[in-house]
Parts: sequence; C-alpha cells; structure tokens
Amino acid sequence: MGTHRIAVVGGDGIGPEVVAEGLKAIDAAGVSSELTHFDLGGGRYLRDGVVLPDEVLEEWRSHDAIYLGAVGAPGVPPGVIERGLLLKMRFELDLYVNQRPFLLTPGDGRPGHDFVVIRENTEGTYAGEGGFLRKSTPQEIATQGSVNTRMGVERCIRYAFELATSRDDHLTLVHKTNVLTFSGDLWQRTFDDVATEYPSVTTAYNHVDAACIYFVQDPQRYDVIVTDNLFGDILTDLGGAVSGGIGLAASANLDPTRTSPSMFEPVHGSAPDIAGTGSANPIAAILSAAMMLDFLGETGAASAITDACNANLGAQGTTAEVGDLIAAAVRIN
Ligand code: IPM
Ligand code: MN
Repeated sequence: MGTHRIAVVGGDGIGPEVVAEGLKAIDAAGVSSELTHFDLGGGRYLRDGVVLPDEVLEEWRSHDAIYLGAVGAPGVPPGVIERGLLLKMRFELDLYVNQRPFLLTPGDGRPGHDFVVIRENTEGTYAGEGGFLRKSTPQEIATQGSVNTRMGVERCIRYAFELATSRDDHLTLVHKTNVLTFSGDLWQRTFDDVATEYPSVTTAYNHVDAACIYFVQDPQRYDVIVTDNLFGDILTDLGGAVSGGIGLAASANLDPTRTSPSMFEPVHGSAPDIAGTGSANPIAAILSAAMMLDFLGETGAASAITDACNANLGAQGTTAEVGDLIAAAVRIN
C-alpha cells in the first residue's frame, strides 16, 4: 500500500507514552509509515506560548493522517489547549465526524455486543458562539449558543446511515427534542429526511437522558447512534465507562471527504497524575491506531491490531509491557 505519512502529536502527560505503544503495533503489523513528530500541547504552551500555528496546520495537510495522544497540562487556563489546539484542529480540518466504537465483552450473564457513537464534531455548543455582557458585575450575563446548520447536521447523519448499512442496519438518533425545540427539530427533520434514502435501516429515537439509562441497563439495543457534539461528548465517556473503562475507548475524527487528513486519538485525556508511572492503559491509543490504519485502507493490519487488543483487554503490566504483548499478538495474527 506504500508508505503512509503520519503526523504524530504525543502531547502531554500519558499521551506520548500511549502513542509509543500504538506506533509499536503499527510496526508489528508490517505497515510502512513515515512519521513527523510535532511538539504541541500544554507543555509547549507553558514553555513558549505556542498552541497551534497556521504553518503546522498547513504541514499537516500534506500528511495522510494525524495520530494524537492527549493534550492538556496543569497550569494552563481552561480552554487554551482545548479550543486552541484540539477544537481548532477539528474545525479547521473540517473533521466533522467523531466516530467512537464500544465493545461490551460477554459476562454477567449478558452476551458480547458492540455499538458505535457518531458524534457531530464541528458545531453545536462547541462552535464558540456567545459571549459576556457586563462581565464581572452582579448583572453579568453569559450566553453560549448551539450552532446547528442543515448542512452540518445532514452530512453527519448521512455518514451514520451509511455506517449503519455496513453493520446491523439500525440507527438511533439521540437528542433532547422535547426541550431543545429549535435545534432538536432541525436534527429530527433532517434525520427523517435522510432516512427515506436508506429504507433498509430501521431507526429509533431516544432523549439523551433516557439514553444514559439505556447505556447502563440495555446497551444491546444500540448499533449505531448519531448525536450532536455535546451530547456525544458526554455519552461517549459513559460508553467508555460501561464498556471496560475509558482506557479502552478509541476515536476517529474523520473528514469522510478525505480533503484533509483525519485525526485519531484515544477518548481519554492526558492524566497528568499518572504520567511517568507506566500505569496508563495503552489500549485506547492502540485501537485508535487501528482505526487510522483502517481509514488508510490497511484493513488487514487494522483488524490484526484490533483483534490483538481485544484478546488482551485484561492484560496486566506496565504501559510498555501491555504494548509489547499486543505487538507480539499482532505479529502472530
Ligand atoms: C473529547 C474531549 C474534548 C471534547 C475536550 C478535551 C475538548 O473531552 O475528545 O471528548 O470535549 O471534545
Ligand atoms: Mn470528552
């Protein structure tokens, strides 16, 4: 398949530690890659104030994919790295789908099951609309709008329908249409319109609060879920928690049009409290590397890595030991 040009952002805390294990697995799968490492994140910001220069964004455009560990460091004010790096990356590269798969292993009398959340990744309350009036006075007002465009909602929903056709033909819209009567109405109408193009897909709707109960009590009802940016953020942490922990949750930030490089990262953060202790679980990052290879067309290598991870979900050991174990299993697969 040739050599894949991958931009690597290890980032902060446990980010570089888990990314190293993902790269190990890629090597073990025999995939040829050319890596460019970028020193970005909270650490870099604290050192010289740099967050994400436009030149770096341009440099990324000549890469096939971006592989990111985690960003965020103590001492950096909230929002600087989140908005300035991660969200800027998602928005500027128009990575409008955030795909987050979950695997429930069999146990406690229930069968194994897997489901996927498709989170809209460029709009909603994340868009940054809003502001302050009379800041720092007793009359202060803060607003934070939710931006929903027909185009943005529709392309995300269409991706989810396409994905459903490649799986179990079942798609659930999650929103809060009973309260968010403007944005929810747009989502529901768009969902119903696009559904007419996919007659093989059966559809369902859950309010987000009810979906939280189902995630815990009856996740088997889900195959593909599509939801807005903030609901998706919250639901996917819950998805991680009910399916073996956030240390296993992988994600892909996709530009399905392939105009820009897509970005792959574990759902978890930089966990500065355990950085350097070798106790971070690298599986979320390794599974994210597998999602990257799959998107790059390396489907055999991707499933070899995914299978190796799934066979070692309970593996004990340091970050590097678990990574070694998985790399060894990849070589056998
Ligand atoms: C995630 C993270 C980010 C988000 C933060 C770090 C901006 O929580 O990828 O889920 O809210 O999208
Ligand atoms: Mn999150």
